[in-house]
Amino acid sequence: MDLQLSGKTVLITGSTAGIGYATAQLLLEEGAEVYINGRQQASTYKAVDQLKEEVPGARVAAFVADFMKPAEVEKQLSTLPSVDILINNVGIYTSKSFYTTSAEEWNSQFQVNIMSGVQLTKRFLPTMLQQNWGRILFISSECAYLVPSDMISYSATKAALHAVSKGLSHLTKRSRVTINTLVPGSTLTEGAKKFIADKAASEKKDPAEIERLFFQNERPHSLLERFAEVKEVATTIAYLCSPLSSATNGSVIKVDGGSSGGVL
Ligand SMILES: NC(=O)c1ccc[n+]([C@@H]2O[C@H](COP(=O)([O-])OP(=O)(O)OC[C@H]3O[C@@H](n4cnc5c(N)ncnc54)[C@H](OP(=O)(O)O)[C@@H]3O)[C@@H](O)[C@H]2O)c1
Repeated sequence: MDLQLSGKTVLITGSTAGIGYATAQLLLEEGAEVYINGRQQASTYKAVDQLKEEVPGARVAAFVADFMKPAEVEKQLSTLPSVDILINNVGIYTSKSFYTTSAEEWNSQFQVNIMSGVQLTKRFLPTMLQQNWGRILFISSECAYLVPSDMISYSATKAALHAVSKGLSHLTKRSRVTINTLVPGSTLTEGAKKFIADKAASEKKDPAEIERLFFQNERPHSLLERFAEVKEVATTIAYLCSPLSSATNGSVIKVDGGSSGGVL
């Protein structure tokens, strides 16, 4: 299927690794021009060079900006052209007790997970509406539904993201711009691989057993009963970026293997 993304310009926040990187790879293969974002020159240009090798002829460039520093981001934004597709993917978390999670940690997660998307949507939505085409995606998490007790702050930011995304979608009425939220479940990024390996080493268990126990105890509603591959999440993101997804707007799309449970 041709996703009709050739010639579209895309910015993916937090895309030097993980779901963002896999999405970039897929969109480049589909002929889009992609801006890769990370905090450091070195990691961002490394990802750009790697993508150029992996996807011959890829039109890929760096957008170095730290979303903990909105003033710096604003400066960097003046160097970017308008984009057709904005993927608000960057997300940080803490996994610790509610009592030891500091106000600073709450604020950092709100800043990176929510305010990055607010800042970028303010910058790019008006042009999308003017050109009468655009896609904005907010990457949430199964935690918006599960709210694990060691991740209350992160889960709160992800739940809030649903309200931001839904509210912004109302601004697209009578246009061909869409704004949606995508909900990944536990996904096998480098971070997840390290989590499994570290736990396996400390508990002297096989990594496969660690994964089995994680889904049995922490994600009992999962029908998938395994971590999703980053590409499994990226393919749904790519579809939502496509002109083919034109009737999906103001929606929440889950790619969580059933883990968040319930009917909504
Ligand atoms: N992985 C999962 O299991 C999972 C599950 C549900 C939802 N999600 C959500 O999916 C999204 C992607 O997660 P992921 O696990 O693929 O990410 P990841 O592997 O942890 O990737 C982190 C990326 O974010 C960038 N980054 C971190 N802080 C940043 C900042 N302040 N400013 C700019 N860039 C920053 C990093 O760039 P540098 O290090 O190069 O600066 C890197 O490119 C997140 O919103 C996450 O909450 C993930």
